Amino acid sequence: MRLSAFAVKNSKHIQQMTVGIIGSGAMGTGIAQVAAMAGHPVVIYDSNEAALARAQKNLSGTLQKLQEKGKITSADELMARFSFANNIVQFSNCGLIIEAIVENLEVKKAVFAEVELAVSADCILASNTSSLSITSIAAACKKPERVVGLHFFNPPPLMALVEVIPAIQTEVGLVTQCKDLMSKWGKMPVIAKDTPGFIVNRIARPFYGEALRIYEEGIADMATIDWAMTTIGGFKMGPFALMDYIGHDVNYVVTETVFQSFFFDPRYKPSFSQKRLLEACWLGRKTGRGFYNYAEGAAMPEPTRDEQLAKTIFDRILAMLINEAVDALHLNVASAADIETAMTRGVNYPKGLLAWCDEWGAANCLEKLDALYNEYHEDRYRASSLLRKSAIANKKFV
Ligand SMILES: NC(=O)c1ccc[n+]([C@@H]2O[C@H](COP(=O)([O-])OP(=O)(O)OC[C@H]3O[C@@H](n4cnc5c(N)ncnc54)[C@H](O)[C@@H]3O)[C@@H](O)[C@H]2O)c1
Repeated sequence: MRLSAFAVKNSKHIQQMTVGIIGSGAMGTGIAQVAAMAGHPVVIYDSNEAALARAQKNLSGTLQKLQEKGKITSADELMARFSFANNIVQFSNCGLIIEAIVENLEVKKAVFAEVELAVSADCILASNTSSLSITSIAAACKKPERVVGLHFFNPPPLMALVEVIPAIQTEVGLVTQCKDLMSKWGKMPVIAKDTPGFIVNRIARPFYGEALRIYEEGIADMATIDWAMTTIGGFKMGPFALMDYIGHDVNYVVTETVFQSFFFDPRYKPSFSQKRLLEACWLGRKTGRGFYNYAEGAAMPEPTRDEQLAKTIFDRILAMLINEAVDALHLNVASAADIETAMTRGVNYPKGLLAWCDEWGAANCLEKLDALYNEYHEDRYRASSLLRKSAIANKKFV
């Protein structure tokens, strides 16, 4: 494998390398904290001065709390590693830039083209985009081989997973070096192909989409679906509670982007019920209203505690999730091990989906999908050919 010509060259160099962060919102601030705690000087830049001031205040508060809990020795010492910039010229000494600004391809491309002019020739440029093409972003640069995706999960200091996504132009050696760097930061890096939703945001789609479909058909209400997935499935949150938590402005938009990016594959079709919430600005917990009502004193709906119904719901959603994981493996989006790590560490699934398939039996999973396909005659329920082959060969995935 060719060694990268870019900034991450050896461990001494890594320790001293200055990391630049573009965007001081939820993700940028969290990633900045992770980088500083790994020992790097960090420059944070935001085009909005108020956002930058807020980030400084938030970081200082977070580090004070960590000191009180005994998790760090000196908040002041860590705080001294940050500088807050209102001009990208201050990125000139950085070895790595991580962009975490608004999820808009044209804006990101413009920022990458501008930042490239301000940094050294060996500086790595990374994007934290959730759903945009890294290849497209790289194409905005003079040296697209220095561009890579580094997709952190929210909140970055607590979530271990980082998806490392090479663009088709990315220099091969850079991927391994970014992976090593993320490991040094205490993260669990996985490598994902530059395809819509990468690993997690692709494979997790049926957790929301199939739950919404079951609800829209009136098979069960939201509370019952959530109860089925937490009680029988062992998921920490049910799909409706989770969509409300993530916010429909984020969750719906990711679904719509993935659907469009997959050339309108019906497997990823968004739901009108969720779209209407977005239109009403009922964004979930943050606005006090989403699928559920979070107003003070409002009663949460009770589920129908029917175990047979709950099993039907759980089986249907899990079969769709497993199919998505198997298909991602089939299309070489990631290795089996990375798919398992991504779903257990990026969205805290109780079990890896490929291991779940082994436990259930590929034939059993296939039977459930074929039953759905026969019932609906919709392409949405087509089984991955790898699942079919594995069922016939009685093959296990992990
Ligand atoms: N929030 C999540 O759960 C999550 C998880 C993973 C990845 N992401 C991705 O991370 C990125 C940032 O998300 P976020 O939730 O932190 O957003 P955010 O809205 O909290 O923060 C974005 C920040 O970028 C700044 N900004 C916008 N345009 C800019 C520009 N042209 N130059 C400099 N600064 C600019 C804004 O002022 C704001 O402070 C997005 O690409 C998002 O898809 C988000």
